[in-house]
Amino acid sequence: MSDQRDRREKEAVARSAAGLVTDDQLVALGSGSTVALVAAALGERGSRARFAAASPATALAATSAGLTLVDDTTTARYDLAIDGADEVAADGWAVKGGGGAHTRERILISAADRFVCVVGASKLVDRLTWPVPLELQPFALASTVERLPGVVLRDAPPTADGGVLADLAVPLDDPAAVAARLDATPGIVDHGLFAPDVVRELLIAHGDHVEHRRR
Ligand code: A5P
Repeated sequence: MSDQRDRREKEAVARSAAGLVTDDQLVALGSGSTVALVAAALGERGSRARFAAASPATALAATSAGLTLVDDTTTARYDLAIDGADEVAADGWAVKGGGGAHTRERILISAADRFVCVVGASKLVDRLTWPVPLELQPFALASTVERLPGVVLRDAPPTADGGVLADLAVPLDDPAAVAARLDATPGIVDHGLFAPDVVRELLIAHGDHVEHRRR
């Protein structure tokens, strides 16, 4: 996949996603380069919807595009969440968090009536292969790391909430079992495995054509 095709697919899927947003909605935007393009497309459409942003980078993209942000500390529910993914498997499991914002992304997605995942076709895989992104509590970090053989701390600044980013290379033949283990591990704030019952609706760009897939 060339960078140029990758960019074109992200732009195509971003335009489609922007077309789903109506002016009366409260919309949660995730993070990453695709979501930044969604914000730009919404700005071009002159969207009057209101938005929450999962990361400072998305907040900047949204305000630069002229979008209105809400206070995420007092807004409980969203009509729609739009976010990218790093990989989406045939069984519906997805890996998110390449950009390190997966904890906030899950919070916003869980608070939305509808989640639309926006990806280029190159993100579709038979089985997940990515290392699982983790956000770890800085407190007693060495103890958490010891519980996670194979974990690699990311050479990245702390998250917006002070978390430590890491990636766990682990076989993903059974993502549900891995997710359950990570959910039960003390010191993990959140991981980047998203279940099929969350990732039910996808916009997938195949070149300039965008497929709307619902499970
Ligand atoms: C951010 O933490 C991720 O979950 C992103 O949604 C994911 O990494 C996709 O990013 P791009 O849109 O930049 O490919």
